[in-house]
Amino acid sequence: MTSDLEAPPPRHVCIIMDGNGRWARKRLMPRSFGHRKGVETTRRAIEFFARSGVEHLTLFAFSSENWNRPAEEVSQLMDLFLQSLESNTDELCEQGIRIRFIGDRSRFDAGLRAQLEESERLTRNNRRLTVNVAVNYGGHWDLVQAARALARRVAAGELDADAIDAPQFAAQLALGDCPEADLFIRTGGERRISNFLLWQLAYTEFYFCDTLWPDFSETEMQQALDEFARRQRRFGKTGEQLEGAG
Ligand code: FPP
Repeated sequence: MTSDLEAPPPRHVCIIMDGNGRWARKRLMPRSFGHRKGVETTRRAIEFFARSGVEHLTLFAFSSENWNRPAEEVSQLMDLFLQSLESNTDELCEQGIRIRFIGDRSRFDAGLRAQLEESERLTRNNRRLTVNVAVNYGGHWDLVQAARALARRVAAGELDADAIDAPQFAAQLALGDCPEADLFIRTGGERRISNFLLWQLAYTEFYFCDTLWPDFSETEMQQALDEFARRQRRFGKTGEQLEGAG
């Protein structure tokens, strides 16, 4: 599927994949059924954005607040992550896709932690698209761990506190080596960030839609890219300044 719009694709797309539970409930099925369908959409999204020339795709798979869900759902989600990675890592490699995980993984069991590391190791040299999967991730956690890392360096005498600037702070974040997010997509009808990336969303274009994640089709993914291409990103400048620059 191609677009008639000529603007370059976003370098970094991030997505809150919301609506799996409601998708299942509408079909009188357990929420875990919706999450399984959600994995299929995730696979399609990875293929779609790789084909579209996006360099980084960051997916919110499990937030630090998701531990508050019923224990059964949390355990089913953990099993699903493990199975999905076991069965899809080879294919990611064949497609030239690197996968890595951001978030505090210390709370996951040893089996899942080992699989996260193995999938990262096997795909680490792939360059077509990097998929950053946020697991036990929260924007507040990320900012706090970055502040701690800098504070430790200041305490050790390696860094002057007055020398800390925005690029230096950004480099300590979990996505320190990524460009800031160009396009944020949230499916499922809610219009909020839900403690996803905070620093990286400073100048991001937002795309919200009501479609539940399992129904989010390639046509709608393309609509999000087309909408992005129509936006004028001013980064604080005026429209006239940008138009004058040609
Ligand atoms: C939000 O829907 C979705 C989740 C909390 C889980 C998302 C995870 C996947 C799609 C699987 C991805 C897998 C890998 C390996 C990256 P919800 O349960 O909040 O839906 P609701 O708002 O309708 O209740």
